[in-house]
Amino acid sequence: MHFTTLLIEPPGLDSQLINLMLAPEKFRVKSVECGPVAWNLILDSDPPDLVLIDTDLPLNGNVRIGASQLMELMSSRPGWKEIPRLVLTSDSSTSIFQQSDKTNVCSAILKPYDPRRFIQEVCNCISKSLDAHIREVNRQHIQLGTKIKNLANIKSQKEIKESLGSILTDIEMHFDFEEKFMSEHYYPDFIEHQKGHQQLYKNAKMLIDEICSGDRIISKEKIDQLSINVFDGVEDDKKYINFLYKLLDSLSNPT
Ligand SMILES: [Fe+2]
Ligand SMILES: [Fe+2]
Repeated sequence: MHFTTLLIEPPGLDSQLINLMLAPEKFRVKSVECGPVAWNLILDSDPPDLVLIDTDLPLNGNVRIGASQLMELMSSRPGWKEIPRLVLTSDSSTSIFQQSDKTNVCSAILKPYDPRRFIQEVCNCISKSLDAHIREVNRQHIQLGTKIKNLANIKSQKEIKESLGSILTDIEMHFDFEEKFMSEHYYPDFIEHQKGHQQLYKNAKMLIDEICSGDRIISKEKIDQLSINVFDGVEDDKKYINFLYKLLDSLSNPT
């Protein structure tokens, strides 16, 4: 499994050292050397797991964009807003420290870097992303289970059909959400898990179509069947979440 990091750092020894410290078996590093390039990347790309940003970015040329402006841009971008940021600086009095609660800065490291502390801080910050992902997966499972359970309380056929349509959309979005994270992070059982999702979706859709084509109130048996169809892949999900927890453990002891 790999984590993606965006390194916004001028070229030179610091940038080389950071690339060396972030071992390729665990991290994928995308490096940009100045504010304007980082600006375009934030506007056009999917967010990484962690942003490493130097407060001493060069301010030359016609377009001058420093670390503070990049932080503000990230805070205004959907998806980027919650991404933890690790600040690299040679000046402990920089204003970013004072604004850390507003700018999602998870930590700041003073140069010259101590490699052990650097890796520890990177892992701490990435743990936050991972923890947030696990919580979101669990939240979506609970929401889906509750929606299915609540079908029993709906008395109108029209509302049942609407609710079933919304459940099918939620299933699709949930599977996409899990698969996007798995694929971006090279989850080893991704293909197997994805095949399971495809089968579950097919079964759930067939059952929902069958219920919607009838004109009777949904029976308890059909609700139970839908729940079984949707959560039949629970073992795959348990395996996935266990894997993420092991990863969280490994991040708390990186050295
Ligand atoms: Fe899943
Ligand atoms: Fe799931």
